[in-house]
Amino acid sequence: GSDDSGQGGSGGSGDEGLLIGFAQVGAESAWRTANSDSVQAAAEAAGHELKFVDGQQDQEKQITAVRDFIAQQVDVIVLAPVVETGWTDVLEEADAAGIPVVLADRGVDAADEDLYVTRLGSDFAEEGRKAGAWAAETFADTGAAVLELEGTVGSAPANDRASGFREAADEAGLEYEVLETQSGDFTAEGGKSVMETFIEKYDVKNDVDLLYAHNDEMGLGAIQALEENGIVPGVDVQIIIVDGSKAGFEAGVAGKLNYIVECNPAFGEQLMEVVESVDAGDEQEKFTPVEEGVFGPDDFEAELPNRQF
Ligand code: AHR
Repeated sequence: GSDDSGQGGSGGSGDEGLLIGFAQVGAESAWRTANSDSVQAAAEAAGHELKFVDGQQDQEKQITAVRDFIAQQVDVIVLAPVVETGWTDVLEEADAAGIPVVLADRGVDAADEDLYVTRLGSDFAEEGRKAGAWAAETFADTGAAVLELEGTVGSAPANDRASGFREAADEAGLEYEVLETQSGDFTAEGGKSVMETFIEKYDVKNDVDLLYAHNDEMGLGAIQALEENGIVPGVDVQIIIVDGSKAGFEAGVAGKLNYIVECNPAFGEQLMEVVESVDAGDEQEKFTPVEEGVFGPDDFEAELPNRQF
């Protein structure tokens, strides 16, 4: 925590706005690019200087970025941690330098809870529960054999989307088996190549009911692999994706997938408000969730024009 008045940073004096360091995860998905755009635009609109570092999905690069922000004495550090563990040392360094850290999007291990001020982002477990609840309803009479395309191993969204799904499916009494879970690292290439190995290993057309992809890119990559192998996505195997990009909705309109759980990247303005409030030393909630919905086949066409990324 910090009681920094906003006067201490090299760019943060008077009315000139704050100097903010933002260690972003990477550019692995349409979601991520939309999120970076949202944060950069909001910082500019609010008159703050944003030092933006793309971590390329590499924790070491993010740690280096945070250390650089400390050396530059930024007013506030915003970190979107690629994975949940391994942050204690660098968060302690920020704390020792009196620079508050705000988590954006992803979270860190509960053990490090005292080392950041607040997190603004999605409730990933709730997203997983939404997916699990839909599966429970859809396959109530038949039960479901499930393949799971997991996000980056050790990341908050991968961990929580997996556990949330199971929680809701178990609670609803769904008879299901997750045949296998493999990581596609939140990328289209990853999703496609994992799906290819699934297709070699399982009779997907006959023995698999549901593919649960932790984001759009992996789901869209998997759809490509299915089509190349004569399996009809959305029909031979039902598909859930998480995010809700334009490309995801287009696949939905084409009947290639069956359920979209929204993950909302457009929290730049809200993030700037949090950063300003943290810099002012105000009391913070530990977690602020962004608002998100769910969409089934009847919604895809009407919702497509509203998608921003
Ligand atoms: O942390 C949010 C997740 O990260 C999004 O679902 C995914 O698309 C991104 O890579």
